[in-house]
Amino acid sequence: MKHFINLKDIPAKDLRKIIADAKKRKVLRKKLSTLEVDKGAPLKGKLLIQMFEKSSLRTRLSFYLAIKQLGGGTLTLRSNELHLGQGGESIADTAKILSTYGDGFMLRTDSDKKVENFAKYLTIPVINGLSPSSHPTQVLSDVFTVEEIKMKPISKLNICWIGDSNNVLDSLIAASVKFSFKLSIGCPKKFEPGKEVRAWVKRNNKKIYIYNDAKKAVAGADVIFSDKVISLNDKVNKKKKIQAFKDFKIDEKLMSFSKKQGTIFLHCLPRGDEVSDNVFLGKKSHVWQQALNRVHVQKSILLYCFGKLR
Ligand code: CP
Ligand code: NVA
Repeated sequence: MKHFINLKDIPAKDLRKIIADAKKRKVLRKKLSTLEVDKGAPLKGKLLIQMFEKSSLRTRLSFYLAIKQLGGGTLTLRSNELHLGQGGESIADTAKILSTYGDGFMLRTDSDKKVENFAKYLTIPVINGLSPSSHPTQVLSDVFTVEEIKMKPISKLNICWIGDSNNVLDSLIAASVKFSFKLSIGCPKKFEPGKEVRAWVKRNNKKIYIYNDAKKAVAGADVIFSDKVISLNDKVNKKKKIQAFKDFKIDEKLMSFSKKQGTIFLHCLPRGDEVSDNVFLGKKSHVWQQALNRVHVQKSILLYCFGKLR
């Protein structure tokens, strides 16, 4: 049994194995319909319990399909309907019950400490479905999407992020170290990645490139990523923050500064005003393929967690 909490803590060779498995499985089920089960039903009889303390569309649906396509089932809990959510039951006791009733636990929460505590008390795998510091299932799936579209290892590509230093970027930074790709980040000075993540990159003898000028950040990019300027439950002065990002909007003009053939645009969704409709809905954008790939990669993440990855 293995947890899937932060890309930083997962060996690169395991991440590579997950991507390879997802690639095989995606091809093999080309002719199957949505709820048909993969050959061999590797997670037959297994229950994945999902709990969301924050909104979700894609993560909820993709985990539902992922476990179903592997032959298992899922149950989604709303934290405010649990004793834990009302403050009346401890994480330790809740975790004990989840471990007795279920086989895996997927958690989306506003507290990294809570993910850690669940990992401490659960005897079943916990998967981080987004926390303040990390969105690992999203970013591993994004690596898969980039390689699928570009048909080459991500280590041979220039990846660029234009936007806030948030959970998705933290996971992308972790991925840049694990998969050895060049990552350029464009953001206002005030919203640069934090000291901790930068120190972690340094400790791993790697580099990330930070620019406070969006045009410089996108130069030479094969892939341009973005995300909302205001994340879920972001407790900042929203107006001020949006104003600080006014020169970081991704429109066709900014895309053209990559000066590279075939630059693509990716975004984890939901979107805000950080990208123009023309780019988001345009030819260079692959956001719908990106969203659907989460099903395929999360299936292989589940198999990894359940110790069933071939
Ligand atoms: N990208 C993503 O995680 O979407 P949801 O918040 O809808 O799950
Ligand atoms: N950074 C965003 C990602 C949403 C999927 C958030 O935390 O709201």
